[in-house]
Amino acid sequence: MESLLQLTQSTLQTHSQFLLLTITTTIFITTLFNLLKSHSWCTCSVCRAYVSRSWTSTYPNLCDWYTHLLRLSPTHTVDIHVIGSTVTANPSNVEHLLHTRFDNYPKGKPFSSILGDLLGRGIFNVDGDAWRFQRKMASLELGSVSVRSYAFRIMTSEISSRLVPLLDSFTVSGRVFDLQDVFRRFAFDNICKISFGLDPGCLELSLPISDFASAFDLASGLSAGRAVTTSPFVWKLKRFLGLGSERDLARAIRLVDELAREVIKQKRKLRGMGSEDQDLLSRFMGSTDDDDYLRDIVISFLLAGRDTVASALVSYFFLLSTHPEVEAAVRDEIINNDDDRHDHGGLEGLRGMHYVHASMYESLRLYPPVQFDSKFALDDDVLPDGTAIGKGTRVTYHPYAMGRMESIWGADCLEFRPDRWMKEGLFTPVSPFKYPVFQAGARVCLGKELALMEMKSVIVSIVRRFQFEAVSGDRELKFAPGLTASVSGGLPVRVRRRRSGS
Ligand code: HEM
Repeated sequence: MESLLQLTQSTLQTHSQFLLLTITTTIFITTLFNLLKSHSWCTCSVCRAYVSRSWTSTYPNLCDWYTHLLRLSPTHTVDIHVIGSTVTANPSNVEHLLHTRFDNYPKGKPFSSILGDLLGRGIFNVDGDAWRFQRKMASLELGSVSVRSYAFRIMTSEISSRLVPLLDSFTVSGRVFDLQDVFRRFAFDNICKISFGLDPGCLELSLPISDFASAFDLASGLSAGRAVTTSPFVWKLKRFLGLGSERDLARAIRLVDELAREVIKQKRKLRGMGSEDQDLLSRFMGSTDDDDYLRDIVISFLLAGRDTVASALVSYFFLLSTHPEVEAAVRDEIINNDDDRHDHGGLEGLRGMHYVHASMYESLRLYPPVQFDSKFALDDDVLPDGTAIGKGTRVTYHPYAMGRMESIWGADCLEFRPDRWMKEGLFTPVSPFKYPVFQAGARVCLGKELALMEMKSVIVSIVRRFQFEAVSGDRELKFAPGLTASVSGGLPVRVRRRRSGS
């Protein structure tokens, strides 16, 4: 009996060693093949600078170097051969990718495998029919007046009961604090309440550590980290062996899963008892009974709607603190429209503030939360500017660079000037293909209106009461790598209460 056990054990060991060897060899050969296909030996000046990172001696951020390259290129498109990628800041190309040949440019497998463990089959991470189904269902909900009013009530309550008291407490203590951390907490509370009907309370005065927020942060940060490994082989092997960051990622995802499943279970119970909640999860329950699918859908919303809004608010208040003339004009418009409706409860009042709207678009132009976005070509193609695209090429449009193109915005493109959006006192938008900050075409951001409403509500409430002073004195922001633009090391500020009339 004992020898039979020993024999079974040693056979199992040999099998698992064989399995490991086979997988490692397959991944190695696939990686080698991909590296060869992607011209990884290219020694052109751009590829050399990319590989050696010599651009870091001149540019604070990778996106600034790309901007420089795209401005120099006559077509505003460049090829980075070593990573098999074409990057463009040309509006005709953007229209081609996102609208005219939308079907040829899905998100593709390389992207979905990076975020797949966290997002599953959620809208943010799928193509084809799975995407179409969720898109239809989600646009019906997000377009409805009842969801907008529900979201507006949540945001205004988070502002008046948490954000304003917290900032007030900082004015009293006079301490320097990280504005990015405050807006991330604010946006997380909001998106959790809107998506799940769950309040993590991250912005309570004591600034508590929420297990859910920490697990979600870790999971999205580590998933994004996969994209910057030299080859997918590295993270896939680590995941297979359960090592290092992949072990931490699996743990964080398990925690997010547990919480999401618990919330779904409770909601099902309440629905069974006749309760009709307004959050997105409760609404999506009317369209599908599959709890795994529901989990995936709402987690996508969390990812899409949290860091983006926080990032937009951080750069907005950074720009305001360095442009007092714009701050004064924003404040004038808020005060001139001032009545009780605007601060807490008046969607109509917000809509009337055209200059505030223009200032948000202008800040998003210079600092888009999603700085670049990639698609993968299904078939060979030629872009409108003549660039040939081979099947499988990664094609990236670059909103950050596009916001800094003289060819699109004129000679003053680097200036923060909200007036460029105003015509005869009214906010006037431009083609979304020139300004793909919320993407454009068939897959345009579903939360755009919600995000603008959230930003505007915060701006109206804060600018009339408080003034921030960024303590570093920097005129430019330095970003940390990730899916969404976040300021490296945060944004330390001081805040003071305005005297009425000041
Ligand atoms: C300033 C804030 C925001 C910006 C700049 C922004 C930008 C974007 C961009 C660029 C995409 C395309 C991403 C891609 O396909 O790779 C996107 C997609 C999406 N966004 Fe937003 N977003 C913001 C806020 C929000 C909010 C608050 C929500 C949710 C309430 C949201 C929900 C979504 C969803 C569900 C998608 C996927 C749409 C699809 O694939 O069909 N976004 N967003």
